[in-house]
Parts: sequence; structure tokens; C-alpha cells
Amino acid sequence: MSESYDLIMKLRAIRDFRPEPVSEEHLEAILEAARWTGSSKNRQDWSFVVVTGDRLQGLAECGDFTDPVRHSAATIVLVKEEGGNMFDIGRAAQNIMLAAKAIGVASCPITLHRSGEAREFLGAPEGTETRYAVALGYPGDAASPRRFGGRKPAEAVVRHQRY
Ligand SMILES: Cc1cc2nc3c(=O)[nH]c(=O)nc-3n(C[C@H](O)[C@H](O)[C@H](O)COP(=O)(O)O)c2cc1C
Repeated sequence: MSESYDLIMKLRAIRDFRPEPVSEEHLEAILEAARWTGSSKNRQDWSFVVVTGDRLQGLAECGDFTDPVRHSAATIVLVKEEGGNMFDIGRAAQNIMLAAKAIGVASCPITLHRSGEAREFLGAPEGTETRYAVALGYPGDAASPRRFGGRKPAEAVVRHQRY
């Protein structure tokens, strides 16, 4: 249909990354896509914390399925500022993933189940929430999606006019 549509349709969670760092240029492009995400009332109640190197192991301790964080070249934690909303955080996360894919960087959404610990680990102020992150890296050899479960059929999820 179009290249952009293809990008959206082919976006998958990737958990195998090459060890090299994400280039400054690519990281900046990804963060710009996050920063330019539309938000409720344009409030932009978010911060994006980039974690790299040894600190990735500590961050990974804050969630239950965080191997992609351990193996990532960089993980961006989406910090919801006090009063912000999760819809905006979700939009920013998706923009991070789409922008990353557009420039050849693979990504995986991450839940930090112990978000309070994550908040302390990052030194984020009280009242902020640090539940979600996106792990990033150049795709490794096993970068095809590990647990691709397909999707529910359209008949099961699309309704018209009324539920
Ligand atoms: C809100 C959210 C949280 C997620 N948390 C994790 C996580 O902690 N660890 C992980 O490996 N994948 C996580 N994922 C990735 C999902 O498992 C993935 O989106 C789903 O399996 C569909 O994958 P696919 O797009 O490759 O088909 C998360 C996804 C979302 C949307």
C-alpha cells in the first residue's frame, strides 16, 4: 500500500540485539520522535531516560520479563510525570518503536513490574511513574519475532456502530 503502512504492519517486538551501541545519530532521531509525539492537551507530561551499559542489569531487576533490557544496547524508560496519562505514554512508546524500525533499530516494549523500584533506581521524583520502557538495539541473527502469536481475526475485534 505504502512504505509507511508497511512499517506499521511489520512492527514486531524484537528481543535479540547485536552488542554494539546504538549510534548517537540514531538515538537522537528516536528521542526526537518520542518528544514530538502528540499528547493530551499537548501537555507532554513525560521524560525519557536513556539507560545504557552496566546500568541495564540493574534496570532489568525491576521487571519480570526483562531479558531484552539486559541484552539491549540502550533502553529508554518512559517516565510519566505527575498528572500525565498512560495513553500518552503508550503513544510515545509506539512512536519510539516505529521511528527505531524506520532507521534499522529493533525494539521491544518492556514492563517494569516493580515500577517503584525503577523510579528509585532512576532517581525520578515521587509522583512520577516508571512502568514502561522500550529496549533497543540493532537486530541480531535471531531477530525474527520469538513468540509471534499472530492476531485475533478482524471479526473478533472490529465492530461497527455498536459493540
Ligand atoms: C504494554 C506492553 C508491555 C510489554 N512488556 C513486555 C515485557 O516486559 N517483556 C517482553 O519481552 N515483552 C513485552 N511486551 C511485548 C509483547 O509481548 C508483544 O508486544 C506481543 O507479544 C506482540 O508481539 P509481536 O508484535 O512481535 O507479535 C510488552 C508489550 C506491551 C504492549
